[in-house]
Amino acid sequence: MTLDVAAVRREFALLSRMVAGKPIHYLDSANTSHKPECVINAMSSFMRESYSPIGRSSYSLATEASDVYEAARTKVAKFINARSSREVVFTKNATESLNLAAQSWGRANLQPGDAVVLTHMEHHANIVPWQMLAKEKGFEIRWVPLTSDFQLDLSSLDQLLRGAKAFAFTSMSNVLGTINPTRELCAAAHAAGAIAIVDGCQSVPHMATDVQQWNADMLAFSSHKMCGPTGVGVLWAREDLLDSMPPFLGGGGMISEVRLDDFTCAELPHKFEAGTPPIVEVVGLGTAVDFLQGIGMNEVRRHEMELTNYAYHALTARYGNDITIHGPVNPEMRGATFSFAFRGVHPHDVSQVLDQHNVYVRAGHHCAKPLMRLIGANATARASMYLYSNESDVDALVEALDDVSSIF
Ligand code: ALA
Repeated sequence: MTLDVAAVRREFALLSRMVAGKPIHYLDSANTSHKPECVINAMSSFMRESYSPIGRSSYSLATEASDVYEAARTKVAKFINARSSREVVFTKNATESLNLAAQSWGRANLQPGDAVVLTHMEHHANIVPWQMLAKEKGFEIRWVPLTSDFQLDLSSLDQLLRGAKAFAFTSMSNVLGTINPTRELCAAAHAAGAIAIVDGCQSVPHMATDVQQWNADMLAFSSHKMCGPTGVGVLWAREDLLDSMPPFLGGGGMISEVRLDDFTCAELPHKFEAGTPPIVEVVGLGTAVDFLQGIGMNEVRRHEMELTNYAYHALTARYGNDITIHGPVNPEMRGATFSFAFRGVHPHDVSQVLDQHNVYVRAGHHCAKPLMRLIGANATARASMYLYSNESDVDALVEALDDVSSIF
């Protein structure tokens, strides 16, 4: 069954907005996604009809709100096939999730002589938290290099992992679109005695996720890239691992007992949710999960593969050697994210001209400066698609690039 993109687009009011009398073409979904009506409605009706504190007060409205909040946790747990919703921690965003991993697990487990392995295709959220901690703790950071066809070069992986305590890697590159062999990478980490921490920011919104099939230890992702609101992220981790980790932020909600001289922690997952959480946003994320599951993640993936194929051929057929796409050719091995260089024109100029055609792409380093350096660019233009993107978005990009050619 092919995804009914026209029907999907009807759920996203903003996509039918006109700017200067012309339709818009939103090609920045790797950055953040748009929100369907059901998410917008769920959040506003929750605020209008059910909003109350969660996990604190015991009157009926607060209990109702707590139930809705916890139901969203259960939905997220099922979405990634977690064993239990106790393994799902709500954070502010995926960046906070990865900081939680570093500051809680890392601080308790890493010391001089240890190593954490990262890859050259990480974005800053999966680099800087480890660098911050390494400065303090004195462990080594090792890097998995890339092949010339934008895959991870796994030829020395076993050597890189020797003696490492953690292997933290992205399941899909936000710049190259490369999909990494997550299950194999988790197995390699375990064979070396390391834990496997997956940055799922780019893959979780776009394809089915099964943390048990991966045999991962932790997974970080954000709501706002998967049709949910900003302000909420997820850290999933194996229950025994979370149990063994010290708390990250302290305050109300994460304690069981507090005395003048000490405190004890609440049960999982509340131990990691200090303070009033993003209640409304969690409700929105739960509805986003319902929305995506209603469509089916395999359908989303299939649609994006078709669109990737279409975009790759449309861009290369029209522009040949004038366009360099930094990423794998095979749609099976990549997501619908295209970073490109065009006729030597600066990516910011490319994006400015595209903007005049209402074609919205991101230009810059995509929060992945080490990767940009590796591919020899300060910046790229990046067009990234999602379940609501269609061939007309791709056609608009291809047409608008013509204008870039004529101006520069
Ligand atoms: N939000 C960042 C991106 O655009 C990381 O890929």
